Amino acid sequence: MNTEMSKLVAIVLAAGKGTRMKSQLAKVLHPIMGRPMLAYPLETLKNLGIKEIIAVVGYQAEAVKAVFSSFPVTFVTQEPQLGTGHAVQVACQALNRNQGSVLVVCGDVPLLPEVYLEALYRQHQQTGAAAAVLTVELSDPGSYGRLVKDVQGNILKIVEARDATPEQLSIREINTGIYCFQIPFLLNALENLRPDNDQQELYLTDVIAQAQAQNLRVSSLKAPEAISFQGINTRVDLAIVSRRVRQQINERQMLAGVTLIDPETTYIEADVQIGPDTVIYPNCYLMGNTRLGSGCCLEPNVKIADSTLGARVTIKMNTVITESIIADEVQIGPFAHLRPLSEIREKARIGNFVEVKKSLLHPGVKAGHLSYLGDAEIGPQVNIGAGTITCNYDGQKKHRTNIETGVFIGSNSALVAPVRIGEGAYVGAGSTITADVPPGKLAIARGRQVIKEIKPK
Ligand code: UD1
Ligand code: CA
Repeated sequence: MNTEMSKLVAIVLAAGKGTRMKSQLAKVLHPIMGRPMLAYPLETLKNLGIKEIIAVVGYQAEAVKAVFSSFPVTFVTQEPQLGTGHAVQVACQALNRNQGSVLVVCGDVPLLPEVYLEALYRQHQQTGAAAAVLTVELSDPGSYGRLVKDVQGNILKIVEARDATPEQLSIREINTGIYCFQIPFLLNALENLRPDNDQQELYLTDVIAQAQAQNLRVSSLKAPEAISFQGINTRVDLAIVSRRVRQQINERQMLAGVTLIDPETTYIEADVQIGPDTVIYPNCYLMGNTRLGSGCCLEPNVKIADSTLGARVTIKMNTVITESIIADEVQIGPFAHLRPLSEIREKARIGNFVEVKKSLLHPGVKAGHLSYLGDAEIGPQVNIGAGTITCNYDGQKKHRTNIETGVFIGSNSALVAPVRIGEGAYVGAGSTITADVPPGKLAIARGRQVIKEIKPK
């Protein structure tokens, strides 16, 4: 945390509709590796120690506010949205000071490295500039605003691509949309903005020309790393930034002791936590609020969402796990499906083509092959034979199956719930169990085999 920066106010511009996304969803709510876009700049500002953050929202304002309701940020609503300059005018109504400096960033530039924000602020302080702008040089500057300078290198103005002359369009130094302003200068300059541009909007970028006209100092800081300032206007940009965020997450995980066999094809969302010495094979997707212990192994094509795994858990190929809790040294898969509210305790084993839903499997349970276990509690050391089905649904209601400690369920049995199989009981292969089985007994519920002579033709 930077104590100097804690004195700053930050304004985040996030009111735009994001027309170019062609989406029903507000641009800043589009997810990037499991977090809404706006979470990235907000987290960065918070990490810098900035205490006062004002976010300007407009399009789908209520939805955006709801997503960040627990974040320490003040929301102001800009309605209608008349441009970035208008957005800052609205934000300034929530300012509780008229001295000092303000940092302005865009909600659609998520990568925002802290070091460059610090460097920009330092430069702004040291030069006493009324306005300082962070820039980068791009070989293909596209639709970004261009930095127009005189021969001495003084910044004259920023011109948007759509308003630029062909000569200005060839300028490769662009405005990242990140600025530090002295508050008194900014408040005054905002009042003088005019919508005399192609979009007939109030452009924040026009305050730069005002500083120049008033003979105030404008400074710029050119960052070397363009990808960090990639704005998101289209879904192509979204993919570029998502890829970069994914690389950063994967690097962080590897540096913390996680082996990724192929980081290029590994998808770990931002909030996922993984213990050291866990090995992850290609094409795994770890989502949401997922936590993995140490020494786990995820074979290829595993998807885990909102689940907790203990230590030394092995998940074999092509397994899907959602909203479940898995204890130490469990083995699951290949081709297993754990649906929400499944809890698998220590050393249990779930094999291929087994589906578990809303069930508790106690330590040492074995369900090796081709089963459906739903709404069930399965006691310690129970053996579930191949093809066992809990018939939990009668067409209207779900019912529970209770299988007590040490039970042996023979292959291809159907357990019609509600039903209880008592401790140490046996169910013969191929049974359809419709009534409780007492502890320690053997239940067989199937047609007796008959042997018949075959008449020769
Ligand atoms: C803006 C800059 C451009 C810069 C680029 C960097 C202006 C006029 N142009 O262009 O120089 O190179 O960012 O990424 O500032 N917003 C509001 N209210 C509005 C309009 C926009 O809050 O009325 C927000 C948007 O939600 C977005 C940000 O401001 O987060 C930038 O707006 P956008 O329309 O994307 O501007 P760009 O065309 O990218
Ligand atoms: Ca933009």
